[in-house]
Amino acid sequence: MQKYLHWPQHMPHTAPRTWPQHQATMGKRVAIVGAGVSGLASIRACLEEGLEPTCFERSDDVGGLWKFTDHAEEGRASIYQSVFTNSSKEMMCFPDFPYPDNYPNFMHHSKLQDYITTFTKEKNLLRYIRLKTLVTEIKKRPDFSFTGQWDVVTEKDGMQESAVFDSVLICSGHHVYPSLPKDDFPGLKGFKGKIYHSREYKGPEGFEGKRVLVVGLGNSGCDIATELSHTAAQVVISSRSGSWVISRIWDGGYPWDMVYINRFDSFLRNKLPTSISNWWYMKKMSGRFKHENYGVMPLDGTLRKEPVINDDLPARIVCGIVTIKPNIKKFTETSAVFQDGTVFEAIDTVIFATGYGYAYPFLDDSIIKSRNNEVTLFKGVFPPPLEKPTMAVIGLVQSLGAAIPTVDLQARWAVRVIKGTCSLPSVSDMMHDIDEKMRKSLKWFGDSQTIQIDYIAYMDEIASFIGVKPNMLWLFLTDPKLAVEVCFGPCSPYQFRLTGPGKWKGARNAILTQWDRTLKPMQTRVVGGPQKPYPFFEWLKLLAIPIILIAVFLTLN
Ligand SMILES: Cc1cc2nc3c(=O)[nH]c(=O)nc-3n(C[C@H](O)[C@H](O)[C@H](O)COP(=O)(O)OP(=O)(O)OC[C@H]3O[C@@H](n4cnc5c(N)ncnc54)[C@H](O)[C@@H]3O)c2cc1C
Ligand SMILES: NC(=O)c1ccc[n+]([C@@H]2O[C@H](COP(=O)([O-])OP(=O)(O)OC[C@H]3O[C@@H](n4cnc5c(N)ncnc54)[C@H](OP(=O)(O)O)[C@@H]3O)[C@@H](O)[C@H]2O)c1
Repeated sequence: MQKYLHWPQHMPHTAPRTWPQHQATMGKRVAIVGAGVSGLASIRACLEEGLEPTCFERSDDVGGLWKFTDHAEEGRASIYQSVFTNSSKEMMCFPDFPYPDNYPNFMHHSKLQDYITTFTKEKNLLRYIRLKTLVTEIKKRPDFSFTGQWDVVTEKDGMQESAVFDSVLICSGHHVYPSLPKDDFPGLKGFKGKIYHSREYKGPEGFEGKRVLVVGLGNSGCDIATELSHTAAQVVISSRSGSWVISRIWDGGYPWDMVYINRFDSFLRNKLPTSISNWWYMKKMSGRFKHENYGVMPLDGTLRKEPVINDDLPARIVCGIVTIKPNIKKFTETSAVFQDGTVFEAIDTVIFATGYGYAYPFLDDSIIKSRNNEVTLFKGVFPPPLEKPTMAVIGLVQSLGAAIPTVDLQARWAVRVIKGTCSLPSVSDMMHDIDEKMRKSLKWFGDSQTIQIDYIAYMDEIASFIGVKPNMLWLFLTDPKLAVEVCFGPCSPYQFRLTGPGKWKGARNAILTQWDRTLKPMQTRVVGGPQKPYPFFEWLKLLAIPIILIAVFLTLN
């Protein structure tokens, strides 16, 4: 029988209890909801800080979204059989746990799940996880304003239990509750064909020879449409506002995120005048093909809305098997009429790939949505109005960067706040910061309510709270070889375990060898040596051009 260490004393959850002062400020018992990557990062962060985690997972395994099942399970994210990651392995690892060097750069979900399982075993996390245990309710205890404690009610095999915890980390994911905007589509009720949300899609079986309409030009919509296009009779994607569609393979054939997500470019993009930064962004996003010619062009191409990462879509459009259409004006019994007046007739199935909404059914809504039903979390993690900062949400942000390093850093910050090693600003300062973020989100992402963030800026901000942000000046003075890779190379997760609390002594070497692990899996027929990129020298070359021009000008005058 599995043993659960550190399981706190069970108590009737209505019984108020006064705790001694030291427990009120230094509570050690942490409840963690969910054992996806956010939950695992949180367990590990608790252990690193000497806290006592108990993680509740409703399913029978770790991995969350990456644990594939044949049917969508209630309350858990669901993926399709053909999902490959759109972040590359060097950019989406736990920062002290690189993938084996023979792993491909973009992984099938089963490979990623293997990695997550191995991480769980190697870090000895399983003993803190209670599988098949649903968290049904989390409530402040009556003496919360003094103790900061929570009553956590769980259910296993039909039996309810209640226990007291000093703090709670919510890691239940945000790709669970489908957004199915039926009211936006007149006539949908009378449509006679089949209707699905992408959450229910598992594979192309059953779609052979069918006419399929996919609503939404996000990553799910494009993956599903391109997969179906191999066997369906016709696939149409309806897009409300268009998207940038980029490839996993970037300049020079390197993984897109290892080239695009780097400190130097990010610094320039944020410091350049908006018009130049926008021009540069659009040039990069449209580098592979002219989006106007393929019907996918965003209505506002300057918005930093999450791009679609899909290698096949332009090829399927050019072959005429996927067609892009504008938003849907109305449905009839058998067809869709688009806003440009064109019609897709005899539709067999409509798949709504219209994304997800988030919900925390076990929690009083007002904790996370403290104002006008808007999610108000300081830095996307802490609910400001709590009398004690003993609850944090891990994983409720989205960016061009990968989830695993983001949640690792969030969890490390959260546990330090819970422990009292880091403090939060006043409630009014936090609310002001949230307003400021909403204002910026409106400008950058076109939506003030979005959970999108600017990856490097966000990571550096959280890292600075816990003293682990790389000090570039110091690095250039003490370790120039590493500094060049940190500044001009990929902003890989290892950078956030180079110094400070949680430092990993392998981080420097991992950074200096990241391109070796990237190129290794492709060295299956060796002709010449592997070719690594040298962005620093590319920039030097670019700088040389104006210098030469000035020198020529001065010589001639
Ligand atoms: C199709 C798809 C592909 C993606 N690809 C990438 C990618 O390439 N790179 C990337 O960085 N990100 C990607 N993402 C984003 C993805 O959300 C993150 O990678 C990450 O897996 C999220 O982890 P999580 O732990 O926060 O949430 P989840 O993985 O959703 O885990 C949440 C866990 O909480 C459990 N749970 C929920 N409620 C309860 C409860 N009440 N009681 C007990 N347990 C509960 C669930 O069972 C689940 O196991 C992708 C997302 C999707 C949908
Ligand atoms: N291979 C992978 O790694 C992979 C695969 C799938 C998903 N994911 C990830 O999973 C997350 C969810 O992706 P997703 O594609 O499911 O959702 P998503 O990114 O939220 O995209 C939803 C799409 O639906 C459209 N839409 C939403 N509401 C609409 C409405 N009322 N009317 C018309 N169109 C509407 C959106 O259009 P607008 O742009 O106009 O809002 C958008 O194109 C993302 O982070 C994504 O990167 C990754």
